[in-house]
Amino acid sequence: MKKHSILFVCLGNICRSPAAEGIMRRIVSEHGAEDEWTIDSAGTGRYHIGDLPDRRMRLHARKRGLELTHRCRQVTESDFDDFDLIIGMDSANIADLRDMAPTSEAEGKIHAMSEYFSPSARYDYVPDPYYEGAEGFELVLDLLDDACLNLYNSL
Ligand code: 4NP
Repeated sequence: MKKHSILFVCLGNICRSPAAEGIMRRIVSEHGAEDEWTIDSAGTGRYHIGDLPDRRMRLHARKRGLELTHRCRQVTESDFDDFDLIIGMDSANIADLRDMAPTSEAEGKIHAMSEYFSPSARYDYVPDPYYEGAEGFELVLDLLDDACLNLYNSL
């Protein structure tokens, strides 16, 4: 078992959570700590299973030097055994995860990404960019850059 294991969760697993996974992987790799971390992402929904992240998210991430190659999958009950931290992007994700958690110990692994936002953040969740324009994707990447670094430093 690695020292830290984190699963990022959103609805579709093609925008927010694969971006969080990619950003976290980069931070961990910049610290030469890959051996200590398991990082993955998943969706509460099943609309896009097997797909690469949304083309727009890949485009905006690439502009920041990040290649997103995750393949969409749905959250499973075994994720609650396999990961120490399960981080949802918004309140709907958190509610869905709580419904799925098989035990109260498993439920205790669920956290909101906003817990790791810097105090200056203008949001208290990571907004779904799927029906938004370019600025929605940039906003998500800005929020995730900040939260992932704070998360890394907190562990
Ligand atoms: P995500 O965004 O939860 O950040 O991956 C979405 C992607 C797809 C859908 C909804 C949200 N969808 O309804 O297909």
